[in-house]
Amino acid sequence: MGRVIDLHTHILPRLDDGARTLEESVAMARSAVADGVRVMAATPHVREDYPTRAIEMEQGLAQVREALALEGVALEVLPGGEIALDRLAVLEADELARFGLAGNPQYLLLEFPYFGWPLDLETRVFELRRNGFAIVLAHPERNSEVQAAPERLRRLAEHGTIVQLTSASVDGRLGRNCKQSAFRLLQLGIAHLIASDAHAPDVRAVGMSRAADAVGDVALARWLTEEMPAAIMAGEVTPARPPTRRPGFSRALRKQR
Ligand SMILES: [Fe+2]
Repeated sequence: MGRVIDLHTHILPRLDDGARTLEESVAMARSAVADGVRVMAATPHVREDYPTRAIEMEQGLAQVREALALEGVALEVLPGGEIALDRLAVLEADELARFGLAGNPQYLLLEFPYFGWPLDLETRVFELRRNGFAIVLAHPERNSEVQAAPERLRRLAEHGTIVQLTSASVDGRLGRNCKQSAFRLLQLGIAHLIASDAHAPDVRAVGMSRAADAVGDVALARWLTEEMPAAIMAGEVTPARPPTRRPGFSRALRKQR
């Protein structure tokens, strides 16, 4: 089995709309391990309604790690945060870096809003890049503007922004529109990562492995769930995407139309 790395989860207890108790955090970790995940980034919301501070994320992480060690759950949990665009102006650069994805202070996971096209998105992303941050955009395929015109993300991707798809979009659990836009982005080469965005143990039950199967191309699925997240975690140059003219991928594309 490979080494699946899930870079977007709400596993820390009581910080947002994810795990409600430490027991739920442990249950989420168990489901993830059963699903083949070996490493996970804890990415609580950092947003107006859940204004998580770095210290709270760090304390929650320590608590979860201790519980997993006690329970003998073999899951490595790393720091992170899912930062809303409107919080960027509030947080200082050093606190932003503490939310660095998978403990890499150079990477930030930015929440892509569900509705509307964020007019200041490109400005914000390019400003962050000037300040030395690389950006991962969380689940843009769930946004109706992106669903209508996925190529709007091309410019950001060409400048190095990494696009994360949610596993439940890829395998169809979030419905036809999300699945179609996820595959359209994959087809256009504007998607680089699959993560669960898990909020609870039950949602997580069939997550990363099912999405990897749905991709329909073993090498591409491995790139999306193992190789890309590993490079982000290690701060290494991201690996080139494998060629995808395999029959499996084409079949998966046809199926979702
Ligand atoms: Fe999330």
